[in-house]
Amino acid sequence: MSSQIDHLLNEDRRFAPPADFAANAVGTADLYSRASEDRDAFWAEQARQLHWHRPFTEVLDWTNPPFAQWFADGALNVAYNCLDRHVEAGYGDRVALLWEGEPGDQRQVTYAELTAEVKRVANVMEGLGIGQGDRVAIYLPMIPEAIAAMLAVARIGAVHSVVFGGFSADSLRSRIDDAGARLVITADGGYRKGKVSPLKPAVDQALAAASNRSEQETVEHVLVVKRGGNRVKWVEDRDIWWHDVVPQASPEHEAQAFPAENPLFILYTSGTTGKPKGILHTSGGYLTQAAFTNRVVHDIRPESDVFWCTADIGWITGHSYVAYGPLANGATQVLYEGTPDSPHPARWWELVEKYGVTILYTAPTAIRSFMKTGRSALENYDLSSIRLLGSVGEPINPEAWMWYHDVIGGHVAPIVDTWWQTETGAIMISALPGVTALKPGSAQVPIPGIGVDVVDESGEHVGNGNGGLLVLTEPWPSMLRGIWGDPERFVETYWEKFRDRGYYFAGDGARLDDDGDVWLLGRVDDVMNVSGHRLSTTEIESALVAHEATAEAAVVGAADETTGQAVVAFVILKESFLRAHSPEGLAQQLRLWVGEQIGPIARPRDIYIVSELPKTRSGKIMRRLLRDVAEGRDVGDTTTLADTAVMSVISAQVR
Ligand code: WT7
Repeated sequence: MSSQIDHLLNEDRRFAPPADFAANAVGTADLYSRASEDRDAFWAEQARQLHWHRPFTEVLDWTNPPFAQWFADGALNVAYNCLDRHVEAGYGDRVALLWEGEPGDQRQVTYAELTAEVKRVANVMEGLGIGQGDRVAIYLPMIPEAIAAMLAVARIGAVHSVVFGGFSADSLRSRIDDAGARLVITADGGYRKGKVSPLKPAVDQALAAASNRSEQETVEHVLVVKRGGNRVKWVEDRDIWWHDVVPQASPEHEAQAFPAENPLFILYTSGTTGKPKGILHTSGGYLTQAAFTNRVVHDIRPESDVFWCTADIGWITGHSYVAYGPLANGATQVLYEGTPDSPHPARWWELVEKYGVTILYTAPTAIRSFMKTGRSALENYDLSSIRLLGSVGEPINPEAWMWYHDVIGGHVAPIVDTWWQTETGAIMISALPGVTALKPGSAQVPIPGIGVDVVDESGEHVGNGNGGLLVLTEPWPSMLRGIWGDPERFVETYWEKFRDRGYYFAGDGARLDDDGDVWLLGRVDDVMNVSGHRLSTTEIESALVAHEATAEAAVVGAADETTGQAVVAFVILKESFLRAHSPEGLAQQLRLWVGEQIGPIARPRDIYIVSELPKTRSGKIMRRLLRDVAEGRDVGDTTTLADTAVMSVISAQVR
């Protein structure tokens, strides 16, 4: 690890913005000085780019930290800002969504059409009794209805909780329960890797399981989009086909104003415990920063750009840079249902050429898997429309950066490496592509209006050339407002560590180089990052021990060439199962089991069946040592183990 870091920090290539790019860039250098002169005034100016039904007079209320309020006496409608106002300004005919399904079917949805659709869906939801503050779970593939559903929820002041379609029935159930959702919007199924992947059956299973328990069932209706054409079971009085109610609904719906701090969505993410956290975001501040960063970091020009953020709406990236940022800016974007390599390895590049994508925002893991496939797969496609590239979700290694720059960006397109989190709601650290000279591998500088530092355990700035913990030193408009139903966990997880200074602790390690630029070094807690998706070691351990064959389990994130990190599990099986089954068979069963419990993304790459786990005298598992084994290194310092011989036993078993 440390040699890797040294290698990274010796990276001294610099890429100045191309002159024509700099000359026309949306984000300019004066933003930094304006933001540092008066932060509040700066953010107020950004917020005023939105339409406020009732203008705000207060900017930030930080009298009760860490519970912030932004623009609190203002009122707005998020959907009106993303839709109606563009139509009213004369851009109704502009395409909002250039949608393509995995099998190749296509739909182009203009702002006028999307606005009318969202109004219909809003009317349907209100007809079902959904109103301000009610929670609506969305479990949909990447189809235009998914965007319409999110915006319709926002339009009526309700709160969406989008659950990634790759999550299991169990994960869906716990999210529905935790949020107390009254409505679930789903589809029969969607296309993935050349076939229909069912969704409705998981909803049925989740709801059947929930009603067995003592808690009261909160879900009254399930609204179902027909997409996959797969057969589905139907629960009378509960299930409603989208096509039976939405087309018939009125396309008139007046957007009402809601307070700036009205909750907009809950999005669950993995923390260091087994229970996912429901990250809560509100309206005015969130939309302000999502739109602002999409303008100045992605350099978006709504009249001419074709933007494509490849994230699924089940993740924060899909919320901020598919649903909200680009639509708030009135931009045209590509929306693609399927996987990058279906039905052929250059599917994405086919789409870039076909739609003339100008700005592409994706994750390093995707870039690395295209590197593996090789250049030949994309030689037949013209990618010259691309003028800006973005990276998100995990550190991008300089090799992948260079490949992205040269092969996809034609040696000229700047790359913005954007650091942020589900909790931050929008981009926090990134170059401005028309201003900053880029360093491959570094996210570099806080965006204007954002306070970032790297500190030691006591909260002291580490100084250039040193490593430490990444903190956010000032509240920001799109910050999370809490963890749904758990204010104590919110305070404890993010604010307790540097309470005296009022810093937000991000959970990431970082280093400052000699110029003071930030290099992200990965999580310092029990959170893993697999293909840019966040997974909790504890959550996977809980799933493993929930299997009848497991006695004990420990999970670590091990470095992986393609996915960044990979899940590696060390499992002690019960004697009785070991006697009756082969260890290989059991390991395979456990892999599938984790997939069923959490979702396929959480399936361990490797499961090692061992007879012991390394523990300290107080019984804490030393994952650091297991990571050494998983990454094929010599095992580090074992002196704090209760039994120092245990690591040689494990190493022998793994081999
Ligand atoms: C964690 C947040 C940001 C939306 C997608 C992930 C890691 C994110 C970068 C980057 C290095 C990054 C951090 C962070 N991360 N972007 N550009 N460079 N690391 O959101 O699932 O909430 O995960 O992703 O470790 O804490 P998330």
